[in-house]
Amino acid sequence: MKKLVILISGRGSNMEAIVRACAREGWPAQVAAVIANRPDAAGLAFATSHGIATAVVDHRQFPDRDSFDAALAQVIDGFAPDLVVLAGFMRVLTAGFVDHYAGRMLNVHPSLLPSFPGLKTHQRALDAGVRLHGASVHFVTSQLDYGPIVVQAAVPVETGDTPATLAERVLATEHIIYPRAVRWFVEGRLALDGLRVTLTPPEPQWLFAGHTAGEGA
Ligand code: GAR
Repeated sequence: MKKLVILISGRGSNMEAIVRACAREGWPAQVAAVIANRPDAAGLAFATSHGIATAVVDHRQFPDRDSFDAALAQVIDGFAPDLVVLAGFMRVLTAGFVDHYAGRMLNVHPSLLPSFPGLKTHQRALDAGVRLHGASVHFVTSQLDYGPIVVQAAVPVETGDTPATLAERVLATEHIIYPRAVRWFVEGRLALDGLRVTLTPPEPQWLFAGHTAGEGA
């Protein structure tokens, strides 16, 4: 039985999707804890109501990133996780923290990486005029929003899209691909070779959330 620790900063809808998929699909895994860096993170209530241990490590109580990350790692390691799952965890992490969880920490990011790392990805995608946007699940490295990609979802940009409408469709794909990636990890099916992630036995490491050309005619 693999142990998961999920880190959130707010709403926690990706955490919720993972908790639900783990139970529904009977993964060989258990969500040992949900940890937030904000006491008011809405997702904590969902975790508590599902009998999952919660903890808060409030970044505002620490003078710098190193001391916050050290305290956070101590709390995480208290649950002895096999995998750390960043699910809307909005903190830049130190290289020491990232190295400590090398190969055992995943993140979801709302863009087709390596395009649009950082914040306001939906606005930036619209401004850049891309026709395909999306979401990526990747292993975390010390470079922000960059690392071996496990699975991506492509979402067509529609005429009239706003950051909000685009975000909604992208988030719906995150709720599909993130549980899928975590399940692959706990099933021991992922292998890393540099920036490449292979899945054994193979299945598509992508999702296309739109109409294919010519469809609907
Ligand atoms: C998600 O869209 C996630 O991709 C994004 O924050 C949102 C969290 O939603 N993460 C990042 O931007 C990380 N760089 P949630 O709290 O409902 O899962």
